[in-house]
Parts: sequence; C-alpha cells; structure tokens
Amino acid sequence: MGERSAATVVVGGTAGLGRDLAEVMLERGHRVVITGRELARAEEVAGEIGAGCACAALDLSQPERIADALAGVGPVRHVALVGIARDENTARDYDIETAIGLVTMKLVGYTEVVHTLLPEMDDDSSIVLYGGQAQARPYPGSTTVSTVNGGVMGMTRTLAVELAPIRVNALHPGVVGDSPYWADKPAAVLDALVERTPTGSLVKMREISEVATFLLENRAVNGVNLAADGGWTLK
Ligand SMILES: NC(=O)c1ccc[n+]([C@@H]2O[C@H](COP(=O)([O-])OP(=O)(O)OC[C@H]3O[C@@H](n4cnc5c(N)ncnc54)[C@H](OP(=O)(O)O)[C@@H]3O)[C@@H](O)[C@H]2O)c1
Repeated sequence: MGERSAATVVVGGTAGLGRDLAEVMLERGHRVVITGRELARAEEVAGEIGAGCACAALDLSQPERIADALAGVGPVRHVALVGIARDENTARDYDIETAIGLVTMKLVGYTEVVHTLLPEMDDDSSIVLYGGQAQARPYPGSTTVSTVNGGVMGMTRTLAVELAPIRVNALHPGVVGDSPYWADKPAAVLDALVERTPTGSLVKMREISEVATFLLENRAVNGVNLAADGGWTLK
C-alpha cells in the first residue's frame, strides 16, 4: 500500500459549515477526514461526501479521549476546528453544565486536537479555527458563545506564535443564512438580520468554506482573525 497523502481534518465535519468545507476540500483534491461524536453517523456522512473522505469519532467536550480517537489519522496538512454544541445562556439565569460543555469544547477541545495532531503536521501545515461574530455583537443568550468566540481570537494569536512555521488563522462568520441552525428560522428574524447587513444578504455556507480554504492554503496569511459577515457588524 502506498503512503497516504497529508489529510485535511475537519473536526465537526458531519453537518453545517464543517460538512460543506469537507466537500470543498475533497473537490480541491485533498484527502479529507471528518469527525462527529458518533462513528456510525460520521461514516454515513463520509460516504455521502465521497470516496477520499474518511472519518473518526470524537467528543470535543471530553478532551481526555481525543488523542485515542485521532490515532491513525496519518499525516496532516490542514486542520479545521469547526464543531459546536450551542449553549443559550445568560449570567442572570446561568446553566453551569452547558456553559462548561461549550467552554471545554472550543477552548480545551480545539487545543487538544491541535496538540494531538502536531506530530503528524509539517512546516507547510495550517490550522483554521471557527469563531463567530457573537464575540463582537452579543445577542440575548449568547453569553457563553460570545465568550468562547472571544477566546478563539486569543487562541489564534498564541498558536500562530507558538506553532510557527505552522500557520494558524480564525474566521468569524456572521449569521450564515443557509446553515442548518439558521435556515428554518422565521422570516421576520432573518429579514431583520438582512436589514443590518450592508451586502443586503446573509452570508452562505459556501462563501464561508471559500474563506476557510483561503486561510488554509495562502501562506501569506497568519495569526489573522477574519470577519466573514458581509459587513454585518458595521451597521
Ligand atoms: N451557522 C452559523 O450561522 C454560524 C455563525 C457564526 C459562527 N459559526 C461557527 O461555525 C461553526 C460551525 O457551525 P454550524 O452552524 O455549521 O454547526 P452545526 O451545523 O450545528 O454542526 C456542528 C458540528 O459539530 C459537531 N459537534 C457537535 N457537538 C460536538 C461535540 N461535543 N464534539 C465534537 N463535535 C461536535 C456536529 O457533529 P455531530 O452532531 O455528528 O457530533 C456537527 O458536525 C461553529 O464553530 C460555530 O460557532 C456558525
């Protein structure tokens, strides 16, 4: 058997933005590995994405188990950290359990994935972290989401310094109108968001994936937190 080419690993690649990125990276000729929490579901989605897409099962909220889950992934060129479990939370009515779950996922789980995969990466490797514009524009219930996405900004900068020459960038989407989380929201909710977006439309999953491929592949870009929101936070 020949040596495997260096993979693009998409953590949280079974749905939404992660799945879309996996499709794009496969189309661009990369070997792709997606992850979700359940192996059977990840296998099903990997099969749908196409030949050349493999999978693994891991739970970002259980970082102690991540190393075992990613053993055998092989050489890695690109890592996309996309997974999320949304936590609607406020300081006045605080749910500690869900807050710890999301904080652990993004701030410890993402870092542990990087720690685990580093021996498989080389000087040309790159990492993209998915944050979100809730750090800049909070909404009712976004307290944990805003907090962790602010954390992603700091993580991007420290990892870019620590892991050099491996590049580390983050993208921060606004509301992605065709993503599963938003697509079925009431028209009035979506219209109000469009109203505040200078481009006159919500950003799309494929546009976000194109931002991610740019950040992963362009060696000029490093340590950047890039807004991908159609200018939503300007207005
Ligand atoms: N959609 C938007 O409008 C938007 C806006 C701003 C930022 N973002 C950011 O973009 C990223 C993707 O969002 P999305 O809307 O595409 O999410 P999504 O559709 O809800 O998909 C979430 C992904 O994360 C995985 N996941 C859930 N819990 C997990 C856990 N505990 N451990 C590991 N993986 C887990 C899911 O896989 P399984 O269910 O198979 O485990 C799935 O693949 C997130 O980081 C989010 O903060 C999205």
